[in-house]
Amino acid sequence: MHKEIQQLREALAKHNWLYYVEAQPIVSDYEYDAMMRRLVELEKAHPEEFDPNSPSVRVGSDLANDFQTVVHRYPMLSLGNTYSLEELSEFCDKICREIPDAEFVCEQKFDGTAISLTYQDGKLLRAVTRGDGEKGDDVTANVRTIRSVPLVLMGEGYPDYFEMRGEVYMPHSSFNRLNAEREDIGETPFANPRNAAAGTLKLQNSSVVAERGLECFLYYMEGDNLPFASHWENLEAARGWGFRISKQMRLCRSWAEIAEYIDQTAQLRSELPYDIDGVVIKVNSYADRRRLGSTAKAPRWAVAYKYKAEQALTRLHSVDFQVGRTGAITPVANLQPVHLAGTTVKRASLHNAEQIALLDIRLGDMVYVEKGGEIIPKITGVELSERSAECVPFEYITHCPECGAALVRIEGEAKHYCPNTESCPPQIVGRIVHFISRKAMKIESLGEETIELLVREGLVSDIADIYSLTVEQLVPLPRLGQKSAENIIASIEESKQVPFHRVLFALGIRYVGETTAKQLAAHFGSLDALKNASVDELLETPEVGDKIAQTIFDYFRSDDNLALIQRLESAGLQFVAEQKGESGGAQLSGLGIVISGTFVRHSREELKELIEKHGGKNLSSVSSKTDYLLAGENMGPAKLKKAESLGVKIISESDFEQMISAESSIESATEPIMEVTVEEITSSGAGASAEQGSLF
Ligand code: IVH
Repeated sequence: MHKEIQQLREALAKHNWLYYVEAQPIVSDYEYDAMMRRLVELEKAHPEEFDPNSPSVRVGSDLANDFQTVVHRYPMLSLGNTYSLEELSEFCDKICREIPDAEFVCEQKFDGTAISLTYQDGKLLRAVTRGDGEKGDDVTANVRTIRSVPLVLMGEGYPDYFEMRGEVYMPHSSFNRLNAEREDIGETPFANPRNAAAGTLKLQNSSVVAERGLECFLYYMEGDNLPFASHWENLEAARGWGFRISKQMRLCRSWAEIAEYIDQTAQLRSELPYDIDGVVIKVNSYADRRRLGSTAKAPRWAVAYKYKAEQALTRLHSVDFQVGRTGAITPVANLQPVHLAGTTVKRASLHNAEQIALLDIRLGDMVYVEKGGEIIPKITGVELSERSAECVPFEYITHCPECGAALVRIEGEAKHYCPNTESCPPQIVGRIVHFISRKAMKIESLGEETIELLVREGLVSDIADIYSLTVEQLVPLPRLGQKSAENIIASIEESKQVPFHRVLFALGIRYVGETTAKQLAAHFGSLDALKNASVDELLETPEVGDKIAQTIFDYFRSDDNLALIQRLESAGLQFVAEQKGESGGAQLSGLGIVISGTFVRHSREELKELIEKHGGKNLSSVSSKTDYLLAGENMGPAKLKKAESLGVKIISESDFEQMISAESSIESATEPIMEVTVEEITSSGAGASAEQGSLF
């Protein structure tokens, strides 16, 4: 084992735990990043050292996940629940009648999505969703990117094989950032952090999951030989192995203590950086649990007490209509300020016309406002008993409040849109603000106010106009002088070097967010290729579904868009992707490889990843398309025979490692294309290929 790789893996795992589990980092982000970069570099140079539990897997991979269904070794039961304290106290009384000295563990009920993590010999083997309780989806690749999930356990005393169960959730900060990004690209935001967490866990591409900021609390241990006889002791032990166990657990011996915990947690709730929807009360001792038993669906030794949603009642004064950069109309309620979950609420989201009609919301009504993880709370209902005769039914606007254009509704979408993309001021400004934003062209010397000014002054009306601006035009404008005018022009000039995938994101094509733009840039390599792609070709891009493919296709069928792109291209923006050397290299490019048998240093899953990472294709059966059969122990004799009869080359695990190591290459696969072309043009019958060759 390469010593530095091992040291870096151990050190990074420890710093990761200190940061994400203990919240007590001892190195700076800069140092951590530098160590991670070094590890990634070394791992690239030593593919034979691949380890699915290396801290470097936290960044995820672009390989598409196919979620296998896995049967839970121990079924994942659900919990009985109640909203009534009285019912809860009866539940506890009943248990105490049977077990007079029963101890209870009270915990927060995290509002996310349940996960089961299996560990074997101290390493994360598998992560599976709850599914129907009997079987779930294998989401290991995605869960490996969650920094608070330990990949390799610390300390000692853990069973050889056991499960940790817990909740994957999205903290408010990540949720708000994600929804802001989604709204920016015209994508429907997630309704709440729970949906966002569940949706993220099922994404195809784990590198996207890695960026979404999921977290995980573990609250349950399952196995045949757990070290302790009680839940509390086992969770404390698990904390020592590196699991993130909430510190907000309490061992209670009486109803009074339970009630106090519930009360305190209710007060704490609004300050938590994540959503909880109640408290879970569990009998502590496993012997007691066995005595109480379970029904088919849920244990008799645990119950969830759920909080009613945090609500406030207040008056609806008026409604504003905001126009976004994609033309989407969002109604926003102006409310009588009211205290809710630790903040004063003045504005609330009304979503769309349908929602307003459904709830029969009228101006002057007393409305219920609720707050989840969102920045903006939402109106969830009307208190009809307080409706007065003055409350007027609500008319949804028919025309854009900014430009007066008649609004339209796209089939299947709840929102109204202003179709006047060309000259509706907030749409123009919105598009340019998006274009210059940090993750797009990063023209930081320009801000929203300056853009509004430039649009008002008639100096720019689309994104390409930015590249015709001159210092002389800017100097006379209010609050701009010679110096800032020069800065602006300099940063506009600099933006011409921004890589293609960011230019693509900056164009503001609907649904094309940062990640999709990256995928498209990597897949097509240039704007020309993307522009000419059919819907089917677009669909071959990872994470691109029907809706996005059609939208991109349509975007490039508009003469206006093509003219705009032409102007940007003339201005010198990057429309070709840089060659990336980030993937594993192309040592296996174009080769079809069948894996058979078991291996000493890699699992089959790892080998599959390695093949794909190095440009090869993992085939399931031997055929004339197979180049190599990667043979392990106990491989099927039929496969071997077929491979021999077809003349397929049979290679061992170490042959394979040699093939993918950075130094070696396979002649046929890595011959530089340019040399082949040059050879071709010097040989006879040059013709068309000579023309092609001369391009180099
Ligand atoms: S214990 C057999 N503890 O609530 C009991 N569940 O409504 C296993 N949940 O599916 C569950 N926080 O996803 C337990 N501290 C906690 C929890 C918790 C959230 C979720 C879990 C479960 C659901 C049941």
